[in-house]
Amino acid sequence: MPATVVVGLQWGDEAKGKIVDFLSENADVVVRYNGGNNAGHTVVVGDEVYKFHTVPAGILHDSVTAVISDGVVIDPAVLCGEVSALAARGINTSKLRISNAAHIIMPWHKLLDQLEEQHRGSQKIGTTGRGIGPCYQDKYGRWGLRVCDLVDEERFAARVREVLGYKNSLITKVFGGQPLDADAICREYGEFGRQIAPLACDTSHLIASEEAKGSRIVFEGAHGSLLDIDHGTYPYVTSSHPISGGAAIGTGLGPRAIDDVIGIAKVYTTRVGSGVFMTELEGEEGEVIRQKGAEFGTTTGRPRRCGWFDAVAVRFTCKINSCSRLALIKLDVLTGMPTVRVATAYDINGERTTEFPQDTLVLEKAEPVFEEFPGWDQQVSEARKLSDLPATARAYIDRLSTLVDVPVWAISVGERRDQTIMVDV
Ligand code: IMP
Repeated sequence: MPATVVVGLQWGDEAKGKIVDFLSENADVVVRYNGGNNAGHTVVVGDEVYKFHTVPAGILHDSVTAVISDGVVIDPAVLCGEVSALAARGINTSKLRISNAAHIIMPWHKLLDQLEEQHRGSQKIGTTGRGIGPCYQDKYGRWGLRVCDLVDEERFAARVREVLGYKNSLITKVFGGQPLDADAICREYGEFGRQIAPLACDTSHLIASEEAKGSRIVFEGAHGSLLDIDHGTYPYVTSSHPISGGAAIGTGLGPRAIDDVIGIAKVYTTRVGSGVFMTELEGEEGEVIRQKGAEFGTTTGRPRRCGWFDAVAVRFTCKINSCSRLALIKLDVLTGMPTVRVATAYDINGERTTEFPQDTLVLEKAEPVFEEFPGWDQQVSEARKLSDLPATARAYIDRLSTLVDVPVWAISVGERRDQTIMVDV
């Protein structure tokens, strides 16, 4: 049975939640494999709007086992809040499982996220301020506390004391901040540990046995490929692996078990936070997209920067993810634009290229080469098949698919589940 990874092909916020929800209808297991509560997935079911930050969106389906796997970093206050809010809305949360190996976001991570950003001054990353980067730093620096520590009160208290001495030195001596109190942290986190304990297990075994049984598994990527720590626009990236390879790293399932990768891209581009944005629209057109597309962060509420579709970047991300099919999102937002544009190449230092440069300083010099298309005025939000779309919109979709070299499988024309055009691939 297929194991499908759903990945964002741009800088996040590509509406992966909607596609994961759609796929979850026929899935047995849905796994979140990277990032933390810096992510925000919105799912609209009828009049109900669900916003997810840590819990996999697949939990909305009763039959699905929802897994938060090893590669995720967990803020236990946010996770416990999300679980109780879902339960209060009648969602069955009893099939949620949380990896013993997932790292815990501690109060010092959130504090250091802010202190580091202040210290960077004009070079700040524009992080979500949720402690994500410092938590991953500690994971790789081997200072991290994991779920298996959290659920054992004594062991957790000992680990907090071991690590906090070092962290308080950093906070007070390097940044001039106020030290944190170990007892207060243990009291607060002790309660979270008790709530999380019944859900904690070795999820890599759980996923492997589901795979062996032939269960249908969906891996829910968070963020977008251009935010990948290795393959994104470094240093303006997140600290995890949103790309499809991250699903193997972040779950312990071997890469040969993954045989389907669905790449999700908006038909334009957005980005939040700082960093290079080759096709950004700074004027009126950008504002029109922002307002029509409600481009404000699910997690932080920040206005998103908006621009044209960048086929150089998305062709690159399709390649690094080995995308098998494409979902194009928010086609309705471009309705009414007199013309729409797509970057097909970059001019860099007088040379034309279709290769996405790995050096961000080189990328900053890239002048996009645009192809222009006539727009369409007809509303597309009621379209349910390709032939319902205006010819100009179809030509635009076809061209995007050709440029990125992946067949289109779905086109989203609105936020509801049913506002989706399925294409045979
Ligand atoms: P961090 O992940 O909070 O460390 O932030 C690093 C960068 O990634 C910032 O530019 C954030 O705005 C961006 N970022 C992190 N998660 C998301 C996401 O889910 N959508 C869009 N941008 C994100």
